[in-house]
Amino acid sequence: MSDRYAVIGNPVGHSKSPRIHALFARQTGQAMVYEAILAPPDGFARALAEFIAAGGRGMNVTIPFKEQAFRLAERHSPRALGARAVNTLAFGEGGIFGDNTDGAGLVRDLKFNLGLSIRGKRVLLAGAGGAARGVVLPLLEESPAALVIANRTEDKARQLAAEFSSRAEKVSGCGFADLSGHGFDLVINATSASLSGASLALPRCVFGPGSLAYDMVYGRPTPFLRQAREGGAAQVTDGLGMLVEQAAESFLLWRGLRPDTAPVLAELRRESAPP
Ligand code: ATR
Repeated sequence: MSDRYAVIGNPVGHSKSPRIHALFARQTGQAMVYEAILAPPDGFARALAEFIAAGGRGMNVTIPFKEQAFRLAERHSPRALGARAVNTLAFGEGGIFGDNTDGAGLVRDLKFNLGLSIRGKRVLLAGAGGAARGVVLPLLEESPAALVIANRTEDKARQLAAEFSSRAEKVSGCGFADLSGHGFDLVINATSASLSGASLALPRCVFGPGSLAYDMVYGRPTPFLRQAREGGAAQVTDGLGMLVEQAAESFLLWRGLRPDTAPVLAELRRESAPP
């Protein structure tokens, strides 16, 4: 019998996770099945309990259930505690374990797929919602020279930065207008603006010479990446690599081995390329 895993969300039909984990399982010879579960907005806890009762071993959790998954988990990894959200659940004798692999996925994509060392770099993180919160701690652990969190609603950026200020003096929060005159080596868009086709009120100067602009969204040309190109960013990239890397971190937690992500990322790029 194959071990059962799933991604749960609403919507979930567009999720690439079943494809990614099928490729990982084939590559590593693991006997597992991975499905997509659409839970009603008020039906997460029930769907989770049913999946566990049916013998499920682990789950990825996506929008809008990551905070609920955090609350339902009985034990947490440090990075899940930092994110206050869970994207990976593992079910075993110790109960429900909650982890968050999003930030590690971003950092691994930057370091290993894009060849960017974050150490000593000036990093701008746009956004102060769940997606931004999930990557703050893993970014700080890479020892950037500065991590500036900027958000449309300035107070939320300041609050998020304050939560992590005991760990690092180099994290601060501000509004977009405060960025005038400041350039960065790495600019990450963790807002949901790209999903609605909106651009951010970022001054052009944030895209410093040689900078890398990273949009966590994938599969579409975004206003942020256009802004970045026009602002002079040396390199722009979408979040497909982060998606594959966070999946690999989940796979490692569940199966105890790390799949080779490069061929899987290449395959996904091929599959999503326009004909
Ligand atoms: P997620 O879990 O995807 O981060 P969220 O918690 O709702 O979702 O947070 C959305 C983020 O995108 C917030 O930082 C939000 O800014 P506000 O706090 O000011 O609302 C940001 N965002 C969404 N649409 C935006 C837009 N058009 N321009 C700028 N920021 C936007």
